[in-house]
Amino acid sequence: MTPLPEVRGVTIVGTGHYVPERVVTNSDLEKMVDTSDEWIVERTGIRERRIAAPDQSSSDMALIAARRALEMAGLEATDLDQIVLATTTPDRYLPSCACTVQQKLGATNAAAYDVFAACTGFVFGLAIARGLIGSGVAETVMVIGVETLTRIMDPTDRNTCVLFGDAAGAAILRPCAPGSGLHSICIRSDGELGDVLEVPAGGSREPASEETVRARRHFIKMRGKKLFPFAVRSMEDSLRQVVGETGWTIGDLDLVIPHQANLRIIEAVRERLGIPGQKMVVNIDRYGNTSSASIPLALDELVRAGRIEPGDRIAFTAFGGGATWGSAVMTWTLAPLASASVAAARPGAGHDAARGDA
Ligand code: ACO
Repeated sequence: MTPLPEVRGVTIVGTGHYVPERVVTNSDLEKMVDTSDEWIVERTGIRERRIAAPDQSSSDMALIAARRALEMAGLEATDLDQIVLATTTPDRYLPSCACTVQQKLGATNAAAYDVFAACTGFVFGLAIARGLIGSGVAETVMVIGVETLTRIMDPTDRNTCVLFGDAAGAAILRPCAPGSGLHSICIRSDGELGDVLEVPAGGSREPASEETVRARRHFIKMRGKKLFPFAVRSMEDSLRQVVGETGWTIGDLDLVIPHQANLRIIEAVRERLGIPGQKMVVNIDRYGNTSSASIPLALDELVRAGRIEPGDRIAFTAFGGGATWGSAVMTWTLAPLASASVAAARPGAGHDAARGDA
Protein backbone atom coordinates (compact mmCIF):
# COMPACT_ATOMS: atom_id res chain seq x y z
CA MET A 1 0.00 0.00 0.00
CA THR A 2 1.68 3.23 -1.07
CA PRO A 3 1.93 6.08 1.42
CA LEU A 4 -0.99 8.52 1.40
CA PRO A 5 -0.43 11.89 -0.28
CA GLU A 6 0.72 14.30 2.43
CA VAL A 7 -2.64 16.03 2.79
CA ARG A 8 -3.87 14.87 6.15
CA GLY A 9 -1.83 12.91 8.64
CA VAL A 10 -3.37 10.23 10.84
CA THR A 11 -2.09 9.45 14.31
CA ILE A 12 -2.79 7.64 17.57
CA VAL A 13 -4.19 9.95 20.27
CA GLY A 14 -4.97 7.42 23.01
CA THR A 15 -4.37 3.78 23.92
CA GLY A 16 -5.74 1.33 26.47
CA HIS A 17 -5.50 -2.34 27.38
CA TYR A 18 -6.98 -4.91 29.70
CA VAL A 19 -5.75 -8.33 30.78
CA PRO A 20 -7.79 -10.70 32.97
CA GLU A 21 -6.69 -11.22 36.58
CA ARG A 22 -6.22 -14.98 36.46
CA VAL A 23 -2.65 -16.04 35.73
CA VAL A 24 -1.94 -19.56 34.44
CA THR A 25 1.72 -20.56 34.67
CA ASN A 26 3.57 -23.24 32.76
CA SER A 27 3.60 -25.39 35.86
CA ASP A 28 -0.21 -25.15 35.99
CA LEU A 29 -0.24 -26.52 32.42
CA GLU A 30 2.09 -29.35 33.40
CA LYS A 31 -0.86 -30.67 35.44
CA MET A 32 -3.17 -30.62 32.39
CA VAL A 33 -1.09 -32.00 29.50
CA ASP A 34 2.20 -33.80 28.89
CA THR A 35 4.45 -30.73 28.80
CA SER A 36 7.08 -28.97 30.91
CA ASP A 37 7.98 -25.44 31.90
CA GLU A 38 11.39 -26.07 30.34
CA TRP A 39 9.93 -27.06 26.94
CA ILE A 40 7.51 -24.13 26.83
CA VAL A 41 10.11 -21.51 27.82
CA GLU A 42 12.76 -22.89 25.46
CA ARG A 43 10.49 -23.37 22.42
CA THR A 44 8.21 -20.31 22.85
CA GLY A 45 9.50 -17.89 25.51
CA ILE A 46 6.15 -18.04 27.34
CA ARG A 47 6.15 -18.29 31.15
CA GLU A 48 2.55 -17.40 31.97
CA ARG A 49 -0.66 -16.17 30.36
CA ARG A 50 -3.96 -14.56 31.46
CA ILE A 51 -7.28 -16.39 31.23
CA ALA A 52 -10.66 -14.63 31.15
CA ALA A 53 -13.06 -15.34 34.02
CA PRO A 54 -15.99 -17.62 33.13
CA ASP A 55 -18.38 -14.65 33.00
CA GLN A 56 -16.02 -12.50 30.88
CA SER A 57 -16.33 -12.37 27.11
CA SER A 58 -14.38 -10.50 24.44
CA SER A 59 -16.70 -7.48 24.55
CA ASP A 60 -16.23 -7.14 28.34
CA MET A 61 -12.46 -6.96 27.97
CA ALA A 62 -12.67 -4.70 24.90
CA LEU A 63 -14.94 -2.32 26.81
CA ILE A 64 -12.35 -1.73 29.54
CA ALA A 65 -9.52 -1.20 27.03
CA ALA A 66 -11.76 1.16 25.03
CA ARG A 67 -12.67 3.24 28.09
CA ARG A 68 -9.00 3.56 29.05
CA ALA A 69 -8.10 4.70 25.53
CA LEU A 70 -10.90 7.29 25.53
CA GLU A 71 -9.76 8.60 28.89
CA MET A 72 -6.17 8.96 27.67
CA ALA A 73 -7.35 10.75 24.53
CA GLY A 74 -9.65 13.05 26.53
CA LEU A 75 -12.59 12.03 24.36
CA GLU A 76 -16.17 10.86 24.98
CA ALA A 77 -17.60 7.66 23.51
CA THR A 78 -19.98 9.83 21.46
CA ASP A 79 -16.95 11.38 19.69
CA LEU A 80 -16.23 8.09 17.91
CA ASP A 81 -17.22 7.90 14.22
CA GLN A 82 -16.23 4.27 13.78
CA ILE A 83 -15.21 1.27 15.88
CA VAL A 84 -13.11 -1.28 13.99
CA LEU A 85 -12.79 -4.38 16.16
CA ALA A 86 -10.30 -7.08 15.22
CA THR A 87 -11.01 -10.51 16.69
CA THR A 88 -11.20 -14.21 15.97
CA THR A 89 -13.24 -14.78 19.12
CA PRO A 90 -16.33 -12.53 19.06
CA ASP A 91 -18.95 -12.97 21.80
CA ARG A 92 -21.30 -14.39 19.18
CA TYR A 93 -21.19 -14.68 15.38
CA LEU A 94 -24.19 -12.39 15.19
CA PRO A 95 -24.24 -9.52 16.11
CA SER A 96 -20.66 -8.40 15.64
CA CYS A 97 -18.55 -7.96 18.76
CA ALA A 98 -17.98 -4.35 17.69
CA CYS A 99 -21.73 -3.62 17.89
CA THR A 100 -21.85 -5.10 21.40
CA VAL A 101 -18.92 -2.90 22.46
CA GLN A 102 -20.55 0.12 20.80
CA GLN A 103 -23.72 -0.45 22.83
CA LYS A 104 -21.89 -1.01 26.15
CA LEU A 105 -19.68 2.02 25.54
CA GLY A 106 -22.58 4.29 24.52
CA ALA A 107 -20.79 5.20 21.29
CA THR A 108 -24.08 6.15 19.70
CA ASN A 109 -22.55 7.99 16.72
CA ALA A 110 -20.19 5.20 15.70
CA ALA A 111 -20.52 2.65 12.91
CA ALA A 112 -19.10 -0.56 14.37
CA TYR A 113 -17.92 -3.75 12.69
CA ASP A 114 -15.55 -6.69 13.15
CA VAL A 115 -12.46 -7.48 11.11
CA PHE A 116 -11.36 -11.12 10.88
CA ALA A 117 -7.65 -11.09 10.16
CA ALA A 118 -6.45 -13.25 13.09
CA CYS A 119 -3.24 -12.00 14.70
CA THR A 120 -2.73 -9.30 12.04
CA GLY A 121 -6.13 -7.80 12.90
CA PHE A 122 -4.82 -4.72 14.68
CA VAL A 123 -2.55 -3.80 11.74
CA PHE A 124 -5.51 -4.31 9.37
CA GLY A 125 -7.52 -2.02 11.68
CA LEU A 126 -4.83 0.66 11.51
CA ALA A 127 -4.90 0.47 7.71
CA ILE A 128 -8.69 0.89 7.69
CA ALA A 129 -8.56 3.79 10.16
CA ARG A 130 -5.85 5.54 8.20
CA GLY A 131 -7.86 5.22 4.99
CA LEU A 132 -11.04 6.53 6.64
CA ILE A 133 -9.42 9.48 8.39
CA GLY A 134 -6.87 10.29 5.70
CA SER A 135 -9.62 10.52 3.08
CA GLY A 136 -11.88 12.65 5.31
CA VAL A 137 -14.60 9.99 5.67
CA ALA A 138 -14.11 9.91 9.47
CA GLU A 139 -12.46 12.07 12.12
CA THR A 140 -12.19 9.71 15.08
CA VAL A 141 -11.78 5.94 14.77
CA MET A 142 -11.18 3.41 17.53
CA VAL A 143 -9.29 0.24 16.60
CA ILE A 144 -9.63 -2.61 19.07
CA GLY A 145 -7.84 -5.97 19.14
CA VAL A 146 -9.45 -8.43 21.53
CA GLU A 147 -9.30 -12.19 22.02
CA THR A 148 -10.55 -14.88 24.36
CA LEU A 149 -8.56 -17.47 22.45
CA THR A 150 -8.58 -19.79 25.45
CA ARG A 151 -12.28 -20.41 24.69
CA ILE A 152 -11.43 -22.01 21.33
CA MET A 153 -8.29 -23.76 22.53
CA ASP A 154 -8.36 -27.52 23.13
CA PRO A 155 -7.18 -27.99 26.73
CA THR A 156 -6.05 -31.52 25.83
CA ASP A 157 -3.90 -30.46 22.83
CA ARG A 158 -0.38 -29.63 24.01
CA ASN A 159 0.51 -28.27 20.56
CA THR A 160 -1.76 -25.26 21.10
CA CYS A 161 -2.94 -24.99 24.71
CA VAL A 162 0.44 -23.74 25.95
CA LEU A 163 0.54 -20.87 23.44
CA PHE A 164 -2.51 -18.67 23.84
CA GLY A 165 -3.84 -16.10 26.32
CA ASP A 166 -6.71 -13.60 26.64
CA ALA A 167 -6.42 -9.79 26.42
CA ALA A 168 -7.72 -6.60 24.84
CA GLY A 169 -5.99 -3.51 23.46
CA ALA A 170 -7.35 -0.34 21.88
CA ALA A 171 -6.07 2.73 20.06
CA ILE A 172 -7.90 5.88 18.97
CA LEU A 173 -6.86 7.59 15.75
CA ARG A 174 -7.43 11.20 14.68
CA PRO A 175 -6.08 13.57 12.03
CA CYS A 176 -2.68 15.19 12.57
CA ALA A 177 -0.26 17.42 10.69
CA PRO A 178 0.94 15.99 7.37
CA GLY A 179 4.27 14.19 7.60
CA SER A 180 3.64 12.86 11.10
CA GLY A 181 1.74 9.92 12.59
CA LEU A 182 1.28 6.86 10.36
CA HIS A 183 3.50 6.94 7.28
CA SER A 184 3.14 3.61 5.52
CA ILE A 185 1.12 0.45 6.10
CA CYS A 186 1.34 -2.84 4.25
CA ILE A 187 -1.36 -5.51 4.71
CA ARG A 188 -1.39 -8.81 2.82
CA SER A 189 -3.25 -12.14 2.68
CA ASP A 190 -2.67 -15.59 1.22
CA GLY A 191 -5.64 -17.95 1.43
CA GLU A 192 -3.45 -20.79 0.14
CA LEU A 193 -2.23 -21.12 3.73
CA GLY A 194 -5.76 -21.30 5.14
CA ASP A 195 -5.50 -24.80 6.56
CA VAL A 196 -2.30 -24.15 8.50
CA LEU A 197 -4.26 -22.52 11.31
CA GLU A 198 -7.99 -23.13 11.46
CA VAL A 199 -11.12 -23.81 13.49
CA PRO A 200 -12.66 -26.42 11.18
CA ALA A 201 -16.28 -26.50 12.38
CA GLY A 202 -18.96 -24.04 13.43
CA GLY A 203 -19.15 -22.12 10.15
CA SER A 204 -21.25 -22.65 7.03
CA ARG A 205 -18.99 -25.40 5.69
CA GLU A 206 -19.27 -27.59 8.74
CA PRO A 207 -22.11 -26.39 10.98
CA ALA A 208 -22.11 -27.34 14.64
CA SER A 209 -23.44 -30.83 15.32
CA GLU A 210 -23.04 -33.50 17.96
CA GLU A 211 -20.45 -35.08 15.70
CA THR A 212 -18.34 -31.90 15.29
CA VAL A 213 -18.36 -31.33 19.05
CA ARG A 214 -17.41 -34.95 19.74
CA ALA A 215 -14.54 -34.69 17.21
CA ARG A 216 -13.31 -31.48 18.92
CA ARG A 217 -13.54 -29.61 15.62
CA HIS A 218 -14.53 -26.30 17.24
CA PHE A 219 -11.03 -25.87 18.61
CA ILE A 220 -7.97 -24.31 16.94
CA LYS A 221 -5.91 -26.75 14.87
CA MET A 222 -2.44 -25.57 14.00
CA ARG A 223 0.49 -26.81 11.94
CA GLY A 224 3.03 -24.79 13.89
CA LYS A 225 6.11 -26.00 12.03
CA LYS A 226 4.71 -24.79 8.70
CA LEU A 227 3.75 -21.42 10.18
CA PHE A 228 7.16 -20.70 11.64
CA PRO A 229 9.15 -19.87 8.46
CA PHE A 230 6.16 -18.03 6.97
CA ALA A 231 5.90 -15.90 10.13
CA VAL A 232 9.56 -14.87 10.01
CA ARG A 233 9.61 -14.19 6.27
CA SER A 234 6.34 -12.26 6.17
CA MET A 235 7.20 -9.97 9.07
CA GLU A 236 10.69 -9.33 7.72
CA ASP A 237 9.48 -8.58 4.18
CA SER A 238 6.59 -6.32 5.19
CA LEU A 239 8.75 -4.40 7.66
CA ARG A 240 11.41 -3.80 5.01
CA GLN A 241 8.66 -2.61 2.65
CA VAL A 242 7.06 0.00 4.93
CA VAL A 243 10.40 1.28 6.20
CA GLY A 244 11.63 1.64 2.60
CA GLU A 245 8.43 3.38 1.47
CA THR A 246 8.86 5.90 4.24
CA GLY A 247 12.42 6.64 3.16
CA TRP A 248 13.88 5.31 6.41
CA THR A 249 16.31 2.51 7.11
CA ILE A 250 15.75 -0.24 9.69
CA GLY A 251 18.41 1.48 11.80
CA ASP A 252 16.22 4.62 11.98
CA LEU A 253 13.56 2.80 14.01
CA ASP A 254 13.43 3.52 17.75
CA LEU A 255 11.04 0.67 18.60
CA VAL A 256 9.61 -2.37 16.83
CA ILE A 257 6.45 -3.89 18.32
CA PRO A 258 6.02 -7.35 16.79
CA HIS A 259 3.06 -9.69 17.22
CA GLN A 260 3.95 -11.93 20.17
CA ALA A 261 3.54 -15.50 18.87
CA ASN A 262 6.87 -17.06 19.75
CA LEU A 263 10.08 -15.52 21.13
CA ARG A 264 12.09 -17.54 18.60
CA ILE A 265 10.11 -15.98 15.74
CA ILE A 266 10.64 -12.48 17.17
CA GLU A 267 14.36 -13.17 17.62
CA ALA A 268 14.69 -14.52 14.07
CA VAL A 269 13.08 -11.37 12.63
CA ARG A 270 15.25 -9.19 14.84
CA GLU A 271 18.45 -10.95 13.74
CA ARG A 272 17.57 -10.92 10.03
CA LEU A 273 16.89 -7.19 10.15
CA GLY A 274 19.81 -6.34 12.45
CA ILE A 275 17.56 -4.72 15.07
CA PRO A 276 19.26 -4.24 18.48
CA GLY A 277 17.64 -6.23 21.29
CA GLN A 278 16.61 -3.17 23.29
CA LYS A 279 14.52 -1.87 20.37
CA MET A 280 12.48 -5.08 19.94
CA VAL A 281 9.49 -5.16 22.29
CA VAL A 282 8.87 -8.47 24.06
CA ASN A 283 6.17 -9.31 26.60
CA ILE A 284 5.24 -12.82 25.43
CA ASP A 285 6.73 -14.23 28.65
CA ARG A 286 3.82 -12.70 30.61
CA TYR A 287 0.89 -12.99 28.21
CA GLY A 288 1.55 -15.70 25.61
CA ASN A 289 0.01 -15.20 22.18
CA THR A 290 -3.01 -12.88 22.52
CA SER A 291 -3.44 -12.65 18.74
CA SER A 292 -4.98 -9.34 17.59
CA ALA A 293 -4.59 -7.89 21.11
CA SER A 294 -0.84 -8.43 21.36
CA ILE A 295 0.36 -5.26 19.58
CA PRO A 296 -2.05 -2.74 21.19
CA LEU A 297 -1.44 -4.39 24.58
CA ALA A 298 2.34 -3.96 24.28
CA LEU A 299 1.92 -0.44 22.88
CA ASP A 300 -0.28 0.70 25.76
CA GLU A 301 2.08 -0.75 28.34
CA LEU A 302 4.93 1.26 26.81
CA VAL A 303 2.87 4.46 26.58
CA ARG A 304 1.75 4.21 30.21
CA ALA A 305 5.30 3.52 31.35
CA GLY A 306 6.54 6.67 29.58
CA ARG A 307 8.72 4.63 27.25
CA ILE A 308 7.60 6.35 24.03
CA GLU A 309 8.42 9.98 23.26
CA PRO A 310 6.99 12.27 20.59
CA GLY A 311 9.20 11.94 17.51
CA ASP A 312 10.01 8.27 18.16
CA ARG A 313 9.92 6.14 15.03
CA ILE A 314 7.82 3.06 15.75
CA ALA A 315 7.04 -0.03 13.68
CA PHE A 316 4.31 -2.63 14.14
CA THR A 317 4.55 -6.02 12.45
CA ALA A 318 2.33 -9.10 12.57
CA PHE A 319 1.35 -12.36 10.90
CA GLY A 320 -1.57 -14.67 11.55
CA GLY A 321 -4.10 -17.19 10.36
CA GLY A 322 -5.68 -16.71 6.97
CA ALA A 323 -2.82 -16.34 6.27
CA THR A 324 -2.50 -12.62 6.86
CA TRP A 325 0.46 -10.37 7.55
CA GLY A 326 1.43 -6.73 7.58
CA SER A 327 3.48 -3.90 9.04
CA ALA A 328 3.09 -0.20 9.75
CA VAL A 329 5.48 2.61 10.63
CA MET A 330 4.70 5.86 12.37
CA THR A 331 6.23 8.86 14.05
CA TRP A 332 4.81 9.02 17.55
CA THR A 333 3.00 12.28 18.32
CA LEU A 334 1.35 11.78 21.70
CA ALA A 335 2.92 13.68 24.62
CA PRO A 336 3.95 11.48 27.58
CA LEU A 337 1.27 11.03 30.23
CA ALA A 338 1.74 13.05 33.41
CA SER A 339 1.18 9.80 35.32
CA ALA A 340 3.70 7.76 33.30
CA SER A 341 6.14 5.81 35.43
CA VAL A 342 9.39 5.03 33.67
CA ALA A 343 10.12 1.39 34.40
CA ALA A 344 13.60 -0.01 34.10
CA ALA A 345 13.99 -2.54 31.29
CA ARG A 346 14.43 -6.02 32.64
CA PRO A 347 17.40 -7.92 31.29
CA GLY A 348 16.68 -10.26 28.40
CA ALA A 349 16.85 -10.62 24.67
CA GLY A 350 14.31 -7.97 23.91
CA HIS A 351 12.85 -4.67 25.04
CA ASP A 352 10.32 -5.85 27.59
CA ALA A 353 7.17 -3.81 27.67
CA ALA A 354 6.70 -2.36 31.15
CA ARG A 355 4.88 -4.40 33.70
CA GLY A 356 1.31 -3.19 33.92
CA ASP A 357 -1.59 -4.03 36.15
CA ALA A 358 -4.79 -5.40 34.73
N1 ACO B 1 5.20 -29.73 25.41
C1 ACO B 1 6.11 -30.69 25.15
N2 ACO B 1 6.35 -31.16 23.91
C2 ACO B 1 5.64 -30.63 22.90
C3 ACO B 1 4.68 -29.61 23.10
C4 ACO B 1 4.46 -29.18 24.42
N3 ACO B 1 3.56 -28.21 24.72
N4 ACO B 1 4.13 -29.28 21.91
C5 ACO B 1 4.73 -30.04 20.99
N5 ACO B 1 5.63 -30.85 21.59
C6 ACO B 1 6.51 -31.85 20.98
C7 ACO B 1 6.01 -32.31 19.64
O1 ACO B 1 5.03 -33.32 19.79
C8 ACO B 1 7.28 -32.83 19.01
O2 ACO B 1 7.54 -34.11 19.49
P1 ACO B 1 8.07 -35.26 18.49
O3 ACO B 1 9.39 -34.76 17.98
O4 ACO B 1 8.18 -36.46 19.37
O5 ACO B 1 7.04 -35.36 17.41
C9 ACO B 1 8.36 -31.90 19.60
O6 ACO B 1 7.78 -31.27 20.74
C10 ACO B 1 8.80 -30.83 18.63
O7 ACO B 1 7.63 -30.26 18.07
P2 ACO B 1 7.74 -29.17 16.98
O8 ACO B 1 6.41 -28.89 16.41
O9 ACO B 1 8.87 -29.51 16.06
O10 ACO B 1 8.22 -27.94 17.88
P3 ACO B 1 8.65 -26.52 17.39
O11 ACO B 1 10.03 -26.28 17.82
O12 ACO B 1 8.32 -26.26 15.95
O13 ACO B 1 7.71 -25.59 18.27
C11 ACO B 1 5.72 -24.28 18.03
C12 ACO B 1 6.32 -25.68 18.13
C13 ACO B 1 6.02 -23.57 19.34
C14 ACO B 1 4.24 -24.38 17.83
C15 ACO B 1 6.40 -23.54 16.86
O14 ACO B 1 6.39 -24.33 15.70
C16 ACO B 1 5.72 -22.23 16.57
O15 ACO B 1 5.71 -21.30 17.37
N6 ACO B 1 5.15 -22.10 15.35
C17 ACO B 1 4.42 -20.91 14.99
C18 ACO B 1 3.09 -20.99 15.61
C19 ACO B 1 2.40 -19.69 15.65
O16 ACO B 1 3.01 -18.67 15.50
N7 ACO B 1 1.11 -19.75 15.89
C20 ACO B 1 0.34 -18.59 16.06
C21 ACO B 1 -0.27 -18.17 14.82
S1 ACO B 1 -0.99 -16.63 15.06
C22 ACO B 1 -2.71 -16.69 14.99
O17 ACO B 1 -3.25 -16.30 14.01
C23 ACO B 1 -3.48 -17.24 16.22
